[in-house]
Parts: sequence; structure tokens; C-alpha cells
Amino acid sequence: MTAKNAQPVQGMSDLGPPGIAIWQEIEEVTRRVMALYDFSEVRTPIIEYTKVFSRSLGDTTDVVQKEMYTFEDRGGRSLSLRPEGTASVMRYVSGLGPEGQTARLYYIGPMFRCERPQAGRKRQFHQFGMEALGGPNPLADAEAIALQQHLFSALGLRETTVEINTRGLPEDREAVKKGIANALKPHMDELCEDCRRRYESNILRVLDCKQEGCIRVVESFPPVTDFMKAESREYLQEVLRILELLEIPVDVNPRLVRGLDYYVHTVWENKHPALGAQDALSGGGRYAIDLGGKTIEGVGFAAGIERLITALEHDRPEGVDTAPRAVVWIVSHGDKAMEENLVLAQTLRMRGVHCGLDLGGRSMKAQMREANRARAEFAVIRGDEEIEKGLVILKNMNEGTQEEMELPVLLERLVTVSRAEVL
Ligand code: HAM
Repeated sequence: MTAKNAQPVQGMSDLGPPGIAIWQEIEEVTRRVMALYDFSEVRTPIIEYTKVFSRSLGDTTDVVQKEMYTFEDRGGRSLSLRPEGTASVMRYVSGLGPEGQTARLYYIGPMFRCERPQAGRKRQFHQFGMEALGGPNPLADAEAIALQQHLFSALGLRETTVEINTRGLPEDREAVKKGIANALKPHMDELCEDCRRRYESNILRVLDCKQEGCIRVVESFPPVTDFMKAESREYLQEVLRILELLEIPVDVNPRLVRGLDYYVHTVWENKHPALGAQDALSGGGRYAIDLGGKTIEGVGFAAGIERLITALEHDRPEGVDTAPRAVVWIVSHGDKAMEENLVLAQTLRMRGVHCGLDLGGRSMKAQMREANRARAEFAVIRGDEEIEKGLVILKNMNEGTQEEMELPVLLERLVTVSRAEVL
């Protein structure tokens, strides 16, 4: 029976068994790979002063203008649920002193954007991401992309491609905007409504609009690098050269601009065929963020975990349901046996055997059904009668065979089997 009102808020999801297993696996692999690259975890609050985001992401970005959950605390200060992780990490490192300038940090956690919910677009979603602090350095940008690709392949992702481009130097910005404005002017009535608005407020975003009409207009444009200084083009070439050394294939996409204002130089996004044309699996780039007089520089990326799971379902031949299996299910018959079996389960668990049992006095048939559902390898059947005789029945669930034995023999057998599984 399901209760009314059991649904979470629109665009947000509960995560529970069995689907939670892949989340735990992703988190575990993330921690392992991040450690290989000498990154440490940081956990910042989910709520920040709104200005932490508006000053970093840019006042005219869609995220800040339309998508933040913003409210006032009791003192009338504006607070927001974090829509992404980078701005909070920048606030954190700005308080660290000199060692903050070279910090290597990663995070895993929920983010919130009040977007129209649709496939692949949630209001609470989850990211893992990393930030490597430090000034412009093509080696660091290439290393961040190498880490990201390592992590994806360690998870079993196969069909993801990196699209890369440059946003150039801050001083290129005006020239780029002017170049795009000139190219767009004769095509204004072919643009979607959003892009006509972006023409005034955030013209770069016209380049990655997903509307067909806008794509057609933009396809005829020269690459944005044409409007940049030679230094910016050379920086991108250097990143590409190092990626080649690291044997990381990437595609240059001259129209990739990314939606956040803090980027300079390298930007990239990963696509995946399971996500459709609209949605990126991950995104990142180099940034220079002005925190009121102090500029913080670094490079980083974040991947959307929900989208990553969709991609893994597509790429992994065995699927993503990798919930750990109970090795043993203990089936009881009679009150005395149930009590003794709880003691047996405790002994097994203390010795590292993954083991389940029913404490609710259900029928043996129902308990065997549970054993199947848990995909247990063995059922241990022990009723009041077996207890009297000092015996237990061990049933091999895969082969359907069973044998009677004494308790110490059973313990030794199961501990050995369980050790073999772990190894
Ligand atoms: P972003 O591109 O806004 O970048 O988000 C990164 C990833 O988060 C996206 O590629 C996508 O997988 C996931 N994502 C974003 N919005 C949603 C949503 N509404 N529903 C589901 N998934 C979503 C950033 O957040 C930057 N902070 C990345 C970065 C780190 N740049 C430098 N350092």
C-alpha cells in the first residue's frame, strides 16, 4: 500500500535500494581516483549568502537570474541554495591564506536549480567536481581533463567525448562580443525569443542555444578564436598539444562557450549519446573569479551524477544494478530457533559474512522468497527441531542441493566462502 503525499518535491528524487548501489559505487570510485591525483575532499554548506553565487557566476547568467532558490534569513539577509560547487569552494579557499592558492580540492553533493523539470534536468541534482587552484597553466588544464576521463573510464563509461574550446583572456571579451554582435545583427529575426534577449544581456550564450533556427545562424559564424588575441589561441593549442601527449582525445568545438561567466581560456564539456543533444554529462574550464578585490584562479570541472548514471546504464553491458548480494539468508522455524538464529547471524556478521534473516516470524515459504530476492548464495535453515539435534541445514541456492551439518562446520564453511567473495 502506498501512502498519499509520499512524493518528494517536484524535480527532486528519493534515493534508496536497490538503485542507491550505483551512487555508492560512483562516490567510492570518485574518492579513489581523486586521491590518485592528490586531491582532498571539501564539504561546504548547502546554503550560502546569495552574493557568493552572483559575484562568481555572473549577474546575467541564467543560473543567477532565473534558477536559484533564494530566500531571506531572519535578519533579512539574502541566502541561496547552492546551484553549483565552484563558488562555494572559492569562498572557502579565499579564507585559507597562501596555501589556498595551490589547493587541490574535490566535492560530491547535491546542487539546486529551479529549472523546468524534464528528462535529465532536475531541481535537486548531484555533482562531483574538482578545483585545482593556480594561475593559467596549460599543463594544469590538461591534467584536469585527464583526471575527468580517468574517472569516467574507471566507472565503465565508454562513449563519452570531450568538446573543448577557449573563452580567451578577460581582455578578449569585448572584442568577442562585438564580433558576435556584428555577425548576428543581420539575422536578428531568425533568432529565438531567448536569444534576442541574450543579444543584449549575455550574447555569448547565443552560440550554444539549442534551438534549430539559432544553430543554423551560428553555424555560419567564424570561430570565436578569430576575435581573440594570438596569446589566447596559443594557450588553447598548448592545452591540445599536452592532451595529445597524455593520449586524451578531444574535439575542438569553436561554438562551445559554457553558461557561467567566470571562465577564461580553456572550457570543455562532455557529451554522451544516451543524454540526447541537449544535455552535457560534465562541464568545466579555467576561471578567474573576483572576490571583491582578490582574484582567485584555477581550473576544474563538475559532472552530473544523475546523467552519469543514465550514461552508465547505456555503456555497461551488465547494467548498473550492482547491489551487494547477501551471501547467506537464515531461515527460522519456531520462536526458539528465531532467537538462536539471531545469535548465529551476529556471529557470522562479526566474522564478516553478509547475512540476512527475518525477525518477524513469517512462514518458511515467505522467508525462502526473501532469500531469493536478496540473491543469497546460501540459505541456512534451522528450526526448533534442528536446534534440539544441534544441527543446521545448508542449502546451496544456485545448485538447489542441501546438506545437514554441525554448527562449527557451517561457520567455517561460510566464513571461508565469504572471504573468497571479498577477495
Ligand atoms: P555546469 O555545466 O553548470 O557546471 O554543471 C555541471 C554538470 O552538472 C552538467 O554537465 C550536468 O551534468 C549537471 N547538471 C547541471 N544542471 C543540472 C540539472 N538541472 N539537472 C541534472 N544535472 C544537472 C558547473 O556547475 C561548474 N561549477 C563546473 C566547474 C567546476 N567549472 C569549473 N569548475
